[in-house]
Amino acid sequence: MDLNKRPENMQRITTIELANKFIDEQIAEVRAQVGDKKVLLALSGGVDSSVVAALLIKAIGKQLVCVHVNHGLMRKNESENVIKLFKGELDANLIYVDATDRFLDLLAGVSDPEKKRKIIGAEFINVFADEARKLEDITFLAQGTIYPDILESIKQAEGKKAVKSHHNVGGLPEDLQFELVEPIKLLFKDEVRVVGEALGLPKNMVYRQPFPGPGLGVRCLGAITRDRLHALREADAILREEFDLNGLAGKVWQYFIVVPDIKSVGVKDESRYEGWPAIIRAVNTTDAMSATIEEIPYTVLHRITDRITKEVDGINRVLMDLTPKPVGTIEWE
Ligand code: XMP
Repeated sequence: MDLNKRPENMQRITTIELANKFIDEQIAEVRAQVGDKKVLLALSGGVDSSVVAALLIKAIGKQLVCVHVNHGLMRKNESENVIKLFKGELDANLIYVDATDRFLDLLAGVSDPEKKRKIIGAEFINVFADEARKLEDITFLAQGTIYPDILESIKQAEGKKAVKSHHNVGGLPEDLQFELVEPIKLLFKDEVRVVGEALGLPKNMVYRQPFPGPGLGVRCLGAITRDRLHALREADAILREEFDLNGLAGKVWQYFIVVPDIKSVGVKDESRYEGWPAIIRAVNTTDAMSATIEEIPYTVLHRITDRITKEVDGINRVLMDLTPKPVGTIEWE
């Protein structure tokens, strides 16, 4: 990542017209940078990598090779949707890698949050590098670096301590050193979204809530097991569905389920039923540095509780986390 600062006179991209102008400039710049060479992109399906993919498809078409790694910690249907949109609709050159077993085998029995993050980050690079080695003639690596990432790196370079080790595709092995293509590196998130809209990406993708690189891995607390991960994924899908149906999706910045590794006693069909609690986290923030708790109507909370406890095997309680940041970080790990 080059740590150049955003020029002070750079206009903020607030309209589709300004976004179109930015897109045209970037298409010309990317074409001039890469010529007829190939560019590799790790496409997670998040806003940033999706916008970069759509922009590069427009600029260089099949010269862009997208690799989507499913680390088994994605939300329900997430990988399927990435494939449907990019391969199905945008005709991208997309390689899909289901690495679920690789990740879950490595994570088995690991309960320390930072160790889990490091394993997921390192294995992501391993899987991506394995795919990159199979490809020929790749000269460039595209990244969805955005301006806050650059500001964060500048801060770290100045010796300030990071609270959690975030992961991205940086740190590829020596034999895989590519030249970087970072077309949105001077943009703030709101600008990336406008550019995404101008590129014709679906609104629910462009305005989707942030999802951490380690995915559900930092929400399935402690040592991840497949059954608890499955319960978390199903409960999270219900939460998101109900937020959509009740008009909360656009109003709450980030909302998800956390499932800790504890069980309590419950009762189902007149028998003892031990299960995990599903914890709802729903916060609002502008910069993710601090966050407030969003009030969710009780009727919606009752419905979510009812659905999760009835529809998700292994969950017998639903709780709500009312802790602002600080003191609680947004993610639990
Ligand atoms: P915390 O938990 O530090 O999270 O309050 C702040 C925001 O960052 C997201 N987050 C991540 N994003 N890679 C990411 O791209 C990561 O490793 C990561 N960890 C946390 C979190 O979801 C929240 O939006």
